[in-house]
Amino acid sequence: MISQASIQEVSERLDAVSVVSDYVRLEKRGSRYVGLCPFHQEKTPSFSVNQEHKLYYCFGCGKGGSIINFVMEMEKTTFPETIELLAKRFGVQLRYEKAQIEKEKDTRLEALNELYRRVAGSFHSILTEKSLGNAALHYLTERGIRRDIIDRFQLGFAPANRFWLYDFLLKKGYSPEFLAVSGLFSKQHPRLSLFSGRIIFPITDRQGQPVAFGGRILGDGEPKYINSGDSERYKKGLLLFGIDKAQPALRATKEAVLVEGYMDLIALHQSGVSNAVAPLGTAFTDEQAKLLRRWVERVYLYFDSDTAGQKATIKAIFTCRKNALASAIINTDKNFKDPAEILQKMGEKYLHEATKSYIFGFNYLMSYAQSLYSFNTAEGKYQSVAFLFPYVDILDSDIARETALDMIAKEFVLDPKAVRFDYRRFNSSSAAGLDTPRRKEDKTCDDKSLLIAVAINQGWYEQFRVLVSIQEVEDPVAKEIFVALEECFKYGETGLDAVLARISSQEVREQVLKRGSSKEFSINTEVFIIDGINKFKQRQLKRRKNEIMRELATTYKKKSSDYRSIDDLIMEKMHIDAELRSLSSQKDT
Ligand code: CTP
Ligand code: MN
Repeated sequence: MISQASIQEVSERLDAVSVVSDYVRLEKRGSRYVGLCPFHQEKTPSFSVNQEHKLYYCFGCGKGGSIINFVMEMEKTTFPETIELLAKRFGVQLRYEKAQIEKEKDTRLEALNELYRRVAGSFHSILTEKSLGNAALHYLTERGIRRDIIDRFQLGFAPANRFWLYDFLLKKGYSPEFLAVSGLFSKQHPRLSLFSGRIIFPITDRQGQPVAFGGRILGDGEPKYINSGDSERYKKGLLLFGIDKAQPALRATKEAVLVEGYMDLIALHQSGVSNAVAPLGTAFTDEQAKLLRRWVERVYLYFDSDTAGQKATIKAIFTCRKNALASAIINTDKNFKDPAEILQKMGEKYLHEATKSYIFGFNYLMSYAQSLYSFNTAEGKYQSVAFLFPYVDILDSDIARETALDMIAKEFVLDPKAVRFDYRRFNSSSAAGLDTPRRKEDKTCDDKSLLIAVAINQGWYEQFRVLVSIQEVEDPVAKEIFVALEECFKYGETGLDAVLARISSQEVREQVLKRGSSKEFSINTEVFIIDGINKFKQRQLKRRKNEIMRELATTYKKKSSDYRSIDDLIMEKMHIDAELRSLSSQKDT
């Protein structure tokens, strides 16, 4: 099998016009090259070659594809033969790789799983049964962790001797080569364990299989934690600590409690809060939110009581919102650093009770708005208040609006008249531009055009897939192209042909080729794509905003309304407003 990298290199190096010129006489017309189509009889040229994107298309008979495909058609060669032909012509040294590769990967992963289970088990027995683990066991006990919890989380201890693990595993029959890729040892010094003299927290995937380790130093010292790096099986921002143990409770309660650290998580589970999970040494990510969203509707944020914890809370509120999760914030007690400390000092019952006191989004937001800007200047005050105006904006009745403005005035110690005046001014300036009917320019970059542009500029896809998710795309043609691109990405295939091969509808294939050959795409694709993504996001946000407004209107009419969900909706709207503002300002730069 020719390697994908080689195939890519060939398609990058080949010169479309010179290849096609071997078979068709081409003439330059503007930015395109045209000639008589070799696939059907014609007198006036409708066959065109796009030099930049290396594709051909006949506007007469609809035949088209990549230049590689063109050569296959003309020479009646197979794909690999064609690549070899072109490689020779353009001086590309081809590399070949085994088709076995996937199978080998599976065996390797299973062997790693087995290794990690064994290592977790060994560390655990050292902690709980060996004298080497005495100090660590004592440390955990001092921090109030129960023995049954130590077993349940399979906490362990890695001996201080940095060679211990290597020698131990070698004796068990593992090869040095395998240990070198296990992610357990230093890259520079393959016999040195990454984890030594530390309490070990096995990080398990959803099935409970250990895929990484976190290690805490005993007592004080730096670094406090060491974690496994990303590997084939473990990607930091994708997994949540404790997810396998929390899963039944997440399902049952449809709620999650999100804490910052390993110890916090363990403290909560020990206190009977079994729906607790923790991000792993990163901020709470969209992927983690999406993972929770499978089972959960609301997330209670219970972060450290310091400023870093507050910042993380605000960020997490938005991350929840973006991923359709409601959020509430558990009141932190400034006398304690974090939940783990509450367990240690006050015990399980107390910690369990503490999780029952939380505040609504808007209240948290109000105090946050106050902390954002300097409160001593008029400008600072105005900024904090303006931060809250979108909230007022969506209230449904004049009475509710008046009340909210009064609340803000009171909270910020301002003249209610001045607040109202500013509010009106803010409102008239922000009302323009939103929810107006689509302007003409939007049409030039609809979902379909955007996906076509990405399809013929596949190098963009990796970035694109991060910014736009497939569920957000409505147009069926665009969706089909998106799916094809994603499959190619997953299987490591590159090139337009690979994308086309994964599109089952002839019509869609033709559209890609036809539009891809047209002038609109050859001008400035980069700007086209960036702008397209930007507009796409704006359309999404506006759509969601309208939904929120409708939801709010109906929730408001029910007098017994649930204020928590109103707060969440409002919070989301504020977030959307902010994002829309930043997207439209990006356009100007
Ligand atoms: N963390 C990390 N590496 C560090 C510090 C922190 O990976 N050097 C991660 C760990 O997952 C840790 C979490 O961030 O649990 C929270 O950090 P911190 O609050 O500093 O630690 P605690 O969990 O409070 O640890 P402990 O209670 O043991 O002091
Ligand atoms: Mn902490």
